Amino acid sequence: MLKVLIPFATLGSFAFAVTLAAAPPAAPGPATITNLATRLPVGVDDQALITGFIVQGTAPKKVLIRVAGPSLVPLGVPKPLGNPRLELHDSSGVIAMNDNWQTTQIGGVVTSNQAPEIQNSGVAPANEAEPAIIATLVPGTYTAVVRGVANGTGVGVVEVYDLGSSSGSLLTNLSTRGYVQTGDNVMIAGLIVVTQPTRVIIRAVGPSLTQFGVPDVLANPQLELHDANGTIARNDDWQVTQLGGVIASDQVAEIQKSQLAPANAAESAIIATLQPGAYTAVVRGIGGTTGNALVEVYVASPAPASFNAALPILPVLTPTSSDAASDYYDITMQVGTRQILPGKVTTIWGYNAMYPGPTIKAHSGRRTVVRQVNNLQESVSVHLHGGHTPPDSDGHPTDLVGPGATKTYVYPNNQVAATLWYHDHAIDVTGRHVYMGLSAFYLLSDGFEESLPLPKGDNDIALLIQDRLFNTDGSLNYPITDSTIRTGVVGDTLLVNGAVQPYLQVGRRKVRLRILNGSNARIYKLALSTGDALVQVGSDGGLLSYPAARAAITVAPAERVDVVIDFSKYPVGTEVVLKNQNSFSVPSLPDIMRFDVVREEADESSIPSTLRPMVRVPESSASLTRTFTLSQTFQSGREDIWTINGKLYDPAVVDAAPQLDTTEIWTFRNSSDQAHPMHIHDIEWQILDIDGVPPARGDDGMKDTFLIPAGSTARVIGTFTDNLGEYVSHCHILEHEDHAMMINFEVQP
Ligand code: C2O
Ligand code: CU
Ligand code: CU
Repeated sequence: MLKVLIPFATLGSFAFAVTLAAAPPAAPGPATITNLATRLPVGVDDQALITGFIVQGTAPKKVLIRVAGPSLVPLGVPKPLGNPRLELHDSSGVIAMNDNWQTTQIGGVVTSNQAPEIQNSGVAPANEAEPAIIATLVPGTYTAVVRGVANGTGVGVVEVYDLGSSSGSLLTNLSTRGYVQTGDNVMIAGLIVVTQPTRVIIRAVGPSLTQFGVPDVLANPQLELHDANGTIARNDDWQVTQLGGVIASDQVAEIQKSQLAPANAAESAIIATLQPGAYTAVVRGIGGTTGNALVEVYVASPAPASFNAALPILPVLTPTSSDAASDYYDITMQVGTRQILPGKVTTIWGYNAMYPGPTIKAHSGRRTVVRQVNNLQESVSVHLHGGHTPPDSDGHPTDLVGPGATKTYVYPNNQVAATLWYHDHAIDVTGRHVYMGLSAFYLLSDGFEESLPLPKGDNDIALLIQDRLFNTDGSLNYPITDSTIRTGVVGDTLLVNGAVQPYLQVGRRKVRLRILNGSNARIYKLALSTGDALVQVGSDGGLLSYPAARAAITVAPAERVDVVIDFSKYPVGTEVVLKNQNSFSVPSLPDIMRFDVVREEADESSIPSTLRPMVRVPESSASLTRTFTLSQTFQSGREDIWTINGKLYDPAVVDAAPQLDTTEIWTFRNSSDQAHPMHIHDIEWQILDIDGVPPARGDDGMKDTFLIPAGSTARVIGTFTDNLGEYVSHCHILEHEDHAMMINFEVQP
């Protein structure tokens, strides 16, 4: 690896060289910057050369840091630093140091002789007076500090190489601070873009360093970006775009939106999409001025374009073992990483470190036994949503599995085929846990469903729809404020199966889609861009009794709709967008995903005119009606409190005690100004009416989650069978649930 030494770039008149070697072979992976280099005159004290970099992700990253001084002479660099010394710092202090690379200095993260490994890396310094360090660094922020031995001064180059480009972490956000002089002694930062075009923001900071106590700052830094052929972009003051080279339009708004706008108007910034290759950023003071400055390179967050990513097909988990009656699974909940945004690594919490989690396929009448190991730092509870599960395996919010602990959940599956899902349910923090990635499908089938000619196999596809907010570094942003407790956390990026607004290539045939709204708070209204109806065949509790053609289908958080789309209506080449017509949440995210009709395909499937026969439960069979009033109350110190019957959830209180084998009507009266998707554990229900009106076609199947519009009253009817004990019912806007819009009910003998 790293064999080729690229003569980096030659900048106009000054014989410049950063000795950066080639990036590791472009492993298929996220777009990223690797291998940064900075050249600068090294002074003493405050004028040492300081390079900062960030290891992002979850896995440790192996890097090699080296400094060039004397070896710059043959490259024509005047007055190089004769004997550079290197220190590596993390936030707590020095973690490694080296003077001459052939002599390892043991201490900190360096525990054994590194000379042979440096030699084999292909990027050993060319001169024995030059230092190098190899370190395996956990994600975090680091600085490499270069000084001259015995206060020597001169030009030095510091380089950071990524030695582990395929691991679950990235080297991002490089910054270098140093003393900018004139002529050859301006500040030069090198970077290499690998794998795919990457949008970067480069900024040159001077005056705003004063607030951090940096003396003698460069008052008016000017920034140039070069590729191997010369200058491709320049900027003086970031609020004034300089057109030319790769800059074709005004950048001010985008710089502002990036949240990386320089703090001072005299500072400079450039945003550019860079093809894979080597680049240099040069910082100078206007009019030959000198002073301390900082150059920083960030991977920018472009709003990822729609329909750029293929829809991920969610993998099905293989049982660890099976016997005559049961399938046994092992899942470990742990931190993982995933590339969701271009060029970024997002840390997630996942079942088996996956986001979305692995799909479990189960069959009615066969038990599913899932051993869940909690390798997270927080307590969790795993709930099978829609499962008719005894309380000890239901994942009650207080039935917590602590860090390091294990719980085995047993699902009897004595219920009909349905699209279920499992997700975290830990008290008070369910919203954050699900947002971090703890959600997955549980597809229950049965002989009756299998006997129907509905699309099967590759043409039966599960779609998990979730919206998220991301920080600039690609991490998930889960803001809890009075306002998000009121509205729930809604995202500005729409994910299907963990990919941003993906596309799926389909044949000219029917496809079954099991759609789950796994969002914390956003309500979608699904429709096709063609204006054709979606044919709904199932809802929360399984198949409908008949296929319901619907122009649009509203799905609230936790609701499931199974639909069939017949793509044979469209010629090859047609693009059909699954739209969201609900514009209540901001931004409105009108496009969910796109189906590209790309081929002719045989279709053995059909939609029978009757599906699963369903008897409507007569109102007269109910032995009791309970009323739950949903309201918003105001308390000093907190803006909004969501309550059920005027109360917040109290785990110690049983709010309702239905009797086993009886039928009840639950009336939800929403006296608030916001819709609430109310969910009841344990059993499936039928909606009797909403404001006296019977449910729409498709909403008249078996349900466990019901959207109660603002100001409306919904009545649902259900029979408590099989299971005794305590369950919960709650709003499935997870921030409402976490802020105690929940009750306990206990089924009594
Ligand atoms: Cu989907 Cu009580 O949860
Ligand atoms: Cu549930
Ligand atoms: Cu709610």
